[in-house]
Amino acid sequence: MPALIAPSLLSADFARIAEQIDAVQNAGADWLHLDVMDGRFVPNITWGPKIIGDLRKLSPLVFDAHLMIVEPERYVEDFRRAGCDRITFHLETTAHAQRLLTRIRELGAKAGIAICPQTPVSMLEDIIDDCDLVLVMSVNPGFSGQTFIERSLEKVRQARDLIDGRNPECAIEVDGGVGERNARELVNAGADVLVMGSTIFGANDPGAELRRIRALL
Ligand code: DX5
Ligand code: ZN
Repeated sequence: MPALIAPSLLSADFARIAEQIDAVQNAGADWLHLDVMDGRFVPNITWGPKIIGDLRKLSPLVFDAHLMIVEPERYVEDFRRAGCDRITFHLETTAHAQRLLTRIRELGAKAGIAICPQTPVSMLEDIIDDCDLVLVMSVNPGFSGQTFIERSLEKVRQARDLIDGRNPECAIEVDGGVGERNARELVNAGADVLVMGSTIFGANDPGAELRRIRALL
């Protein structure tokens, strides 16, 4: 299956948000990646369910929410109601990841689990059966435009091995510092979905940039 591209709105210009979403949608974006940050789990603050609910009216794209918040169990219903199709939370933010994965699925969304650079893939062994997606963070979460941590490539390979053996339906998403320099290599290592923030929205023409990266894949 060809790799999917998920532009991350974190790098978009919110004063022109409808136009920016249209640009990537018309260029064939697969998912729209929405980074939710609370200023506690990560040192940055973005948006909550109200803004996502309003964005929902602008686009039929798959809404791929990446929750970088403490106590994610308190908010998954709100994000589902706002129109998120996929909800991914961080393993580091809850002691009851399996319960939360199950809850997200009960709500009718795809359930994903994200791991920070410090968290080994082996921490997912006992919950991988309950995941629709594993998100390998290739930077420390919080900001766009950071440098890709090279070790992440090996983590994608490890995630691929784990998933192939145990839950082949589960997708692998990579987020942080992804662009033309490493996209092909990440897909070869086993990534199914590439998140790109500054690569796409930092370009003069986000649609053209998306098409260009797609061609490289
Ligand atoms: C960072 C976010 C990313 C961010 C990626 O914490 O999770 O989704 O938008 O931005 P780039 O692609 O610029 O690293
Ligand atoms: Zn993200």
